[in-house]
Amino acid sequence: PHFLSIAPSVLSADFSRLGEEVRDVTEGGADLLHLDVMDGHFVPNLTFGPPVIAPLRKWSNLPMEAHLMVSNPSSLVEPMAKAGVNRLIVHAETDPHLHRLIESIRGKGMSVGIALNPSTPLMVLEEVLGLIDLVLIMTVNPGFGGQSFIEGSISKIRRLMSMKERLGCANVRIEVDGGISTKNVGQVVSVGADTIVAGTAIFSGASRREAISALRSAAGV
Ligand code: DX5
Ligand code: ZN
Repeated sequence: PHFLSIAPSVLSADFSRLGEEVRDVTEGGADLLHLDVMDGHFVPNLTFGPPVIAPLRKWSNLPMEAHLMVSNPSSLVEPMAKAGVNRLIVHAETDPHLHRLIESIRGKGMSVGIALNPSTPLMVLEEVLGLIDLVLIMTVNPGFGGQSFIEGSISKIRRLMSMKERLGCANVRIEVDGGISTKNVGQVVSVGADTIVAGTAIFSGASRREAISALRSAAGV
């Protein structure tokens, strides 16, 4: 039911010229921007926060989603909204009060995504699937770009599709993040993914536009 969305992850971009990189993927046909926020605590890497995100709006009119890989996501809800983030994705592992967190994100006018590490079962979504817009299935362990896709993710996406059907949540989008390339994008899309994050696959070559259209054609939709 959903159109395929391609979301470049700027983690693999050149941070010294982030504005230009964001402009280039925007002109190259991206559907939204995926911004990986890491705190060096929940994940063993440190990236950027609201002061780096806010000025990106001058370089792109695409929707921005922030993927929070931080131990205390509730403290970032308001700053992210003020920085212009349209969809906030929080990890289920980082807050025992997901229901409250979801309400607080909505209260700031953002859409809500819940991310799951490869080892986190889908069961944690049971009571909240009807309250959110998107599930982010991590297809690598979060923290770094350029890792290999974990094959068990295919079965997890399939099982999430059945769960959506069982709970009457067909509108919830399924996003995949980590190790996505032209080699596996067709498979993840065929089992139900509709939103594709790609870092290395988009930022490692010479042309952002060609990389995005190669992903789109390999997705086969
Ligand atoms: C991993 C990040 C991803 C990462 C994807 O922790 O959440 O968004 O940048 O990079 P690639 O596509 O290179 O695996
Ligand atoms: Zn991410």
